Amino acid sequence: MQTRFTLPQSSIPTRWYNLLADFPEPVPVPLHPGTRQPITPEDMYAIFPENVVAQEMSAERWIDIPEEVRDVYALWRPTPLLRAVRLEKALNTPAHIYYKYEGSSPVGSHKPNTAIPQAYYNKIAGTRCLATETGAGQWGASLALACQLFGLDCLVWMVRVSYDQKPYRRLLMQTYGTTVYPSPSDQTEFGRAQLAKDPNCPGSLGIAISEAIENTVTHPGTKYSLGSVLNHVCLHQTVIGEEAIEQMEQAGEEPDIVVGCVGGGSNLAGIAFPFIRKKITEGKPYRILAVEPVSCPTLTKGELRYDFGDTAGMTPLMTMYTLGHDFMPPSIHAGGLRYHGMSPAVSHAYKLGLIEGVAYPQTSVFEAAVLFARTEGLVPAPESSHAIRAVIDEAIKAREEGRKKVILFNLSGHGLLDLAAYNSYLTGKLQDE
Ligand SMILES: Cc1ncc(COP(=O)(O)O)c(C=O)c1O
Repeated sequence: MQTRFTLPQSSIPTRWYNLLADFPEPVPVPLHPGTRQPITPEDMYAIFPENVVAQEMSAERWIDIPEEVRDVYALWRPTPLLRAVRLEKALNTPAHIYYKYEGSSPVGSHKPNTAIPQAYYNKIAGTRCLATETGAGQWGASLALACQLFGLDCLVWMVRVSYDQKPYRRLLMQTYGTTVYPSPSDQTEFGRAQLAKDPNCPGSLGIAISEAIENTVTHPGTKYSLGSVLNHVCLHQTVIGEEAIEQMEQAGEEPDIVVGCVGGGSNLAGIAFPFIRKKITEGKPYRILAVEPVSCPTLTKGELRYDFGDTAGMTPLMTMYTLGHDFMPPSIHAGGLRYHGMSPAVSHAYKLGLIEGVAYPQTSVFEAAVLFARTEGLVPAPESSHAIRAVIDEAIKAREEGRKKVILFNLSGHGLLDLAAYNSYLTGKLQDE
């Protein structure tokens, strides 16, 4: 029985898919943080190059992937699709469980899918240095690699709790030639103000974003790069779903449910937006499930309104599900899911009922992660394990209902650099908050 579905390098997608072109009603426009008027492209040029801004605002359904980007994607794409037959057996479920494995990239997650094009577009626009934030370090490591490959300098503000919990990701960034600061840092005015208020501040993605943006606007030749949330990031990630559609055809099945974890929303967008296209344009009945931590329940408990993407209030105001831009999430191990807001495109899909949300506490997430590791062999990232928890629960439901269900999920990253978190779980020290 075939359980691994691969595609040749020639099947690396040639276009990204832009869901904004197919939404039945438009996503509300972002507002200028000062004037509260709709933002113009010029407003964004202080932090992003023109070519990236054009993509961020594009309403084109399909956007060509430059050859230079496809050449780098060829280092690991197309990623494999696997059927988790051993997990199915352990659960004694009639469900068929498939996963798209994005942990097979050089840094171990889906994040290079957007880091590579962002570094490429900045390089051709004349940028010399990219500044960014990172939570668990997956995004920072991805941008570090991308900058190295395209000859750019790179500065990363890493949320302090992850900086301390995950020294190996910091070392990975440094190996790729990047400078890494714990955030809040003494490098920016905003960071120094946070430290003055609380010298032990664990940091948050919102604070780290503010620091990276402050550095960008005060250093000519530096631009800012974001690893999630924005339209162009979701766009770049759609290579995941486009490949998955082809691979599910190869497997001869169609998913009933498509599942992804959500931090800022980009890996869910990557796997799900191409399926949402088929939902909207072909009337397909897919259920799309976004899975988040109960300690940072942006979709399931947040409010849909205009909010800032960062803590300091420097970014444009975007319509999104948010817990408030000053929300300080607890220091859970899935550092990449500790973000107060949700991508405007994912938020819009949620509002329109195109996707559903569910939240889990972290001990039940690690229980699922360990079962997956013990059956399928791969140790999943704590972030991705949220998706696995939901998949297992759906598979158990299928067993109870005696129904075959086809479940596809995005395994957004491996957890080989997150073993300290596994240690906490295995020694009984992991708490839900
Ligand atoms: C492995 C992994 N999955 C998921 C996420 C969450 O981000 P997003 O919702 O943008 O996919 C992260 C963020 O760092 C991550 O490292």
